[in-house]
Amino acid sequence: RIAVIDYGSQYTLLLARRIREMGVFCTVASPEEFKVESEIKGVVLSGGPQSVYEEGALGFPKQLEGFPVPIMGICYGMHLLAKKLGGEVRSGALGEYGLTNVSMDNERFRDIPEEIVTWMSHGDEVTSLPAECKVIARSKNGITAGFSNGRDIAFQFHPEVNHTQFGTNLIEDFVFNVCNASRNWKLSAFAERKVEEIKRIVGSSKVVGGLSGGVDSTVAAVLTSKAVGDAFTGIFVNHGLMRKNEDIEVCEALRSLGIKLINVDASEEFFRELKGIDNPEEKRKIIGKTFIKVFEREANKLNASFLLQGTIYSDVIESGAASKNSAKIKSHHNVGGLPDKMNLKLLEPIRELFKDEVRNLGYSLGIEPSLLTRQPFPGPGLGVRIIGEVDSEKARILKEVDSIFMDVLRKSGESEKIWQSFAVLLPVFSVGVKGDKRSYGYVVALRAVNSSEGMTASWHELPHEILREASSRITSGVREVGRVVFDITDKPPATIEWE
Ligand code: XMP
Repeated sequence: RIAVIDYGSQYTLLLARRIREMGVFCTVASPEEFKVESEIKGVVLSGGPQSVYEEGALGFPKQLEGFPVPIMGICYGMHLLAKKLGGEVRSGALGEYGLTNVSMDNERFRDIPEEIVTWMSHGDEVTSLPAECKVIARSKNGITAGFSNGRDIAFQFHPEVNHTQFGTNLIEDFVFNVCNASRNWKLSAFAERKVEEIKRIVGSSKVVGGLSGGVDSTVAAVLTSKAVGDAFTGIFVNHGLMRKNEDIEVCEALRSLGIKLINVDASEEFFRELKGIDNPEEKRKIIGKTFIKVFEREANKLNASFLLQGTIYSDVIESGAASKNSAKIKSHHNVGGLPDKMNLKLLEPIRELFKDEVRNLGYSLGIEPSLLTRQPFPGPGLGVRIIGEVDSEKARILKEVDSIFMDVLRKSGESEKIWQSFAVLLPVFSVGVKGDKRSYGYVVALRAVNSSEGMTASWHELPHEILREASSRITSGVREVGRVVFDITDKPPATIEWE
């Protein structure tokens, strides 16, 4: 295993991904949380936003004192390593940002061209090399872009970023030639190991978990079912705010995977709780609380000792619990507060996996592609796509509109190009003519966006004929709707959802 110590670079996870893609297990921990363990064959100190000479800057991990494994320092990590080995780091005159040509030491790197283009992002530089270290890369500006003492190695540029030519080779060189790590990270082996581990942890106890059809919870549930069979029960809480027929489809798909499932139709209870509420945050809170109430009620009947959660690695890292065994989880609308209240032990079988690994594992476990490629869908569902007060009639109307829009996108092949698409029901009525009569109907907004993480998004340029077809099928198919508009706002300044 290779351990990455995270000093706050935006590329830390990418680095871990690159190493796992080489078939080598890699974990990420903060400098405080990092633990020395015998299976660690090498350590990477990541980049970060600080300066090593600043007061309060994160330092070289004390845990590494006397732990004889090779270290690779990247950017800030290079500065830490230089300082630790007795070199000097100072603020540079100019800094280097973006694509920068670097000449490489040909004796050290025989399979890499003499000059490569790299991705730089630094203001500080190594001004005096530690004794016993040798420059192995120099930027065209004359700045030390890499040094090594024969074992430890450091780069000023980011080899993990695609823009750096031969970056993967440089990481491979460290992982295999210097650390002698073995390629034993395979998802199929991971799954087998996890199933055995779940069996051992759970013993003869029972496990319960909330399922929504989302990738993470589904994969976690399949592994658990394989391990303990019917001792696991999945609870699907139907809040009445999913897409049209999605509740039925999701439950069928989960059952076909051999998961024992209880489908609780609590939609009336949700609508009752939401009556008279039009503030979005309040709606979210009510939906979250009601979810927990319903889930708890059902779970209590089952006498379980474990709560299954589909926590994945990015959740673990975001919550700052990367290497702690304590189970701190991101507060998500449908799980927050549950474990404490119910006195259940947490079972998190996929907490070591990245999102794309979860999806790949899903494929290899035979999960239907429709479940694995679903668009992100907000926990509170259509509750935040019905602007203002929510009721069952509005939910019925929006489900019809949304399903027509999705059908048009699917049939035209456009869905595959879109990250997230949906309809929004507005609390606005507009005048129109239907037949010979004056009509007065709802306005609905259609939204389609592209994004990679949901943090930013750009609206998807739907071809006019698709918009025309959606509009005409919606207004003729859903009596209550009189007008259709298309949202052409990016995030920022807007958000993806309307509420
Ligand atoms: P926004 O609207 O914040 O959405 O740009 C970003 C992504 O998050 C989803 N989203 C939610 N997911 N509970 C969720 O589980 C919520 O309350 C919620 N609100 C927004 C949204 O669909 C998009 O993918």
